[in-house]
Amino acid sequence: MAEITLDLRTRPKDEAYRELARHVDSVLDGITDAMAAMATISALVHHAFGYLWTGFYRVVEPGKLLRVGPYQGTLGCLEIPFGNGVCGTAAAERRTMIVADVNLFPGHITCDARARSEIVVPVMDSRDVLIAVLDVDGEHPGTFGPGDAEGLERIVKWFARSADAS
Ligand code: SME
Repeated sequence: MAEITLDLRTRPKDEAYRELARHVDSVLDGITDAMAAMATISALVHHAFGYLWTGFYRVVEPGKLLRVGPYQGTLGCLEIPFGNGVCGTAAAERRTMIVADVNLFPGHITCDARARSEIVVPVMDSRDVLIAVLDVDGEHPGTFGPGDAEGLERIVKWFARSADAS
């Protein structure tokens, strides 16, 4: 098992995410616990790219409410109703949202005033039920693009492959 934290900041994004996905699978080999996977993925994604905030909001009331899960960064807000902010919108619409400038997103929820851009990726279990969203915030406008969406969507597929992750 390769329990090290990779720093992939100097690598092209597609290559970096491919390597990160392999690393996540290797570190989580033999694990079926969703919470352990969320904690591990938060740490690995966060430190691989030096993001500002990286973590999960879990579905605690389907269709209604997200509550913070494992994360890396400064204090995150505790609960987000479906439809609110970027996380709540991604959860309600079950789609990845990329926000290049959070100041231009009506209803953006500010947890860390330094956050300028973000990406939120829905997380499904093996039955295609939404169990969480992965929220990553960057310090600069336009931090995230389609390569990040593809890379992070690939990483959270771990939860769809894990029968117990719900
Ligand atoms: N950015 C989120 C709120 C959560 S924090 O950034 C940690 C949003 O507007 O959904």
